[in-house]
Amino acid sequence: MGVRRKMALRFDLIIFTILLFASPVLSDLILSKVDRRFINEKLKNGEDFNFHLAIPCLQIDLTSQIVENEGSEPVSEVLLAFPDLQVKDLALLKASPHEGKGKVKSLSASLPVENVKPNGMPAALTFYAVKLPKALGKGDSYTFDVLAVFAHALRPFPEKITQADIQLVVFQESAFYLTPYVVKVQSLSVKLPESRIESYTKLENTKIHGSEIKYGPYENLPSFSYSPIVVHFESNQPFAVAQEVVREIEISHWGNVQVTEHYKLVHGGAQNKGEFSRLDYQARPTIRGASAFKYLIAKMPPRVHSVYYRDEIGNISTSNLWGDSKKTELLIEPRYPLFGGWRTAFTIGYGLPLKDFLFELEGNRFLNITFGSPMNELVIDNLIVKVVLPEGSGDISVSAPFPVNQWEETKLSHLDLTGRPVVVLQKTNVVPEHNQFFQVYYKFSKLSMLREPFMLIFGFFSLFVAGIVYMHVDMSISKSSAAYLARLQWDEVQAAIQQVENVINRCLTTHDKLEASLRDLSRTGDVQACKAARKAADGLLKELSKELKLVLSFLQSSSAASQILPKVEELVAKEKDLQEKVMAKHSTVVDCYEKKTGIRDSENRVAAQQQKITALRQEVENLLELIDEI
Ligand SMILES: *[C@@H]1O[C@H](CO)[C@@H](O)[C@H](O)[C@H]1NC(C)=O
Ligand SMILES: *[C@@H]1O[C@H](CO)[C@@H](O)[C@H](O)[C@H]1NC(C)=O
Repeated sequence: MGVRRKMALRFDLIIFTILLFASPVLSDLILSKVDRRFINEKLKNGEDFNFHLAIPCLQIDLTSQIVENEGSEPVSEVLLAFPDLQVKDLALLKASPHEGKGKVKSLSASLPVENVKPNGMPAALTFYAVKLPKALGKGDSYTFDVLAVFAHALRPFPEKITQADIQLVVFQESAFYLTPYVVKVQSLSVKLPESRIESYTKLENTKIHGSEIKYGPYENLPSFSYSPIVVHFESNQPFAVAQEVVREIEISHWGNVQVTEHYKLVHGGAQNKGEFSRLDYQARPTIRGASAFKYLIAKMPPRVHSVYYRDEIGNISTSNLWGDSKKTELLIEPRYPLFGGWRTAFTIGYGLPLKDFLFELEGNRFLNITFGSPMNELVIDNLIVKVVLPEGSGDISVSAPFPVNQWEETKLSHLDLTGRPVVVLQKTNVVPEHNQFFQVYYKFSKLSMLREPFMLIFGFFSLFVAGIVYMHVDMSISKSSAAYLARLQWDEVQAAIQQVENVINRCLTTHDKLEASLRDLSRTGDVQACKAARKAADGLLKELSKELKLVLSFLQSSSAASQILPKVEELVAKEKDLQEKVMAKHSTVVDCYEKKTGIRDSENRVAAQQQKITALRQEVENLLELIDEI
């Protein structure tokens, strides 16, 4: 495997030591020492994700502190403060006892943290209270670590780059730790993935060593001290962001757990401007497309079977599946490499042996399975996990290791009478650390299990009887299964149509760019640049037309698409016509510009062309709207 990369996460590891003074009111707590580290590093080659601690915390040296007791009244809570703006991206917040320098941190031994609203605090801040294992008496001290993970904390800047550019990102923070307490000594270190740093805020006591910037130590800062810093640095790590993932886990007591996962992925890094050249990319992928991502790896449980991977167009061969007795890995390779701003959607599905995930406990059954996506390098903005239980399950309860939204639904499939209970869990800002086990407990009587086969037998028997009476047996069976198949096909057709719309929209954007290049020409007189713009647009339009052909041939082969096909074909034809006209107008204008002759004549010609273009564009847009409503 190549270099595994980490993405747009920021990890803050904060170490506190608290000193307590006279009374339990806020101002009597003192942080005697705070060390903060921000890490944004890619994992080194060969390093692997540890299942629940995927974050490079293990590389951090934790410093321990010695403090003295000077207070009197006991205090059992410490407040953490974050700006509201940051909190919306907060994926994970954990506090745990400090375990000493060099120790492997087990964040599982964590301290309870809860959201609180203390009185008299500045607005625009969100507070969390950490419960200490025992109240601090007079002069006692306690050392603990806080891990906060933020998704989307890095902003690409510039926001648009070409295929050949490196990606630069901006990181913003306060050099001083934002806290309601006085801090005696504090320091901050920012560890970057590469040592190329464009710029960083220089304050008093700022040092830089290679790819690490150090702020501090700063002494005796009052509460809520704040001093913004900005670091602008190179980071070619692809920002793989899933805007939405829906995982459906369906339990069948006949021995299978079926998992289906729908992904909507976007490359959240700097947007790719200019044209994408596949040739360039293939020739030098590390230079021409350093921040693009080509594939993702899904780590599946062992004994997984019936794995498939498909996108909007259809199945993608699953030959990229390998594994041993401990794990199975699936290589997810989209049809094209993803550059900044590009999107893709796909579905993976797989079966798992029931006995590995379903257990019994005092007459209850429970599913014990991981929550997150098997793709360890994803940040998921919105994750929905649906657990579909067998029909007839009751007394359902869920145990999850972190807060999730939760509700119930019912899923009706063929042979179901009352429908299957579905437990839905939803969470925003999901990072690899959320890939932990959760449990769904339920009661189920073995008799319910016999219902389906019984219904089948009874059903066939009734049909048989009905068949004798009505002689319609054949028809009624084929009808119901045909309806089911038709729905599946229709889903695929809709996905393909969406693909068509996407491509056409990209074509229209390209037309707009051509128009813009003409405006530039009249402003700058740069004929060469204008010609170059046409060449690039021409290349892109050719690629898009290839893409269109692929989807169109799928639609032509699908019987479910026969109704809509004429409109889609009309749309494609009209767009092609429009494309030719736009190109022709472009040439006319450039020609006239070069020859500087026959201004009057050419104006007339261009006006006529423009009229046709406007009309065609309107037609294309109307068709797009029409198709979109289907
Ligand atoms: C895709 O593969 C799955 C599993 O192998 C199969 O059930 C399905 O029919 C295939 N779909 C298409 C469109 O080929
Ligand atoms: C769930 O499975 C994991 C991994 O096999 C195991 O460590 C954990 O204890 C299980 N949880 C429960 C509640 O059984």
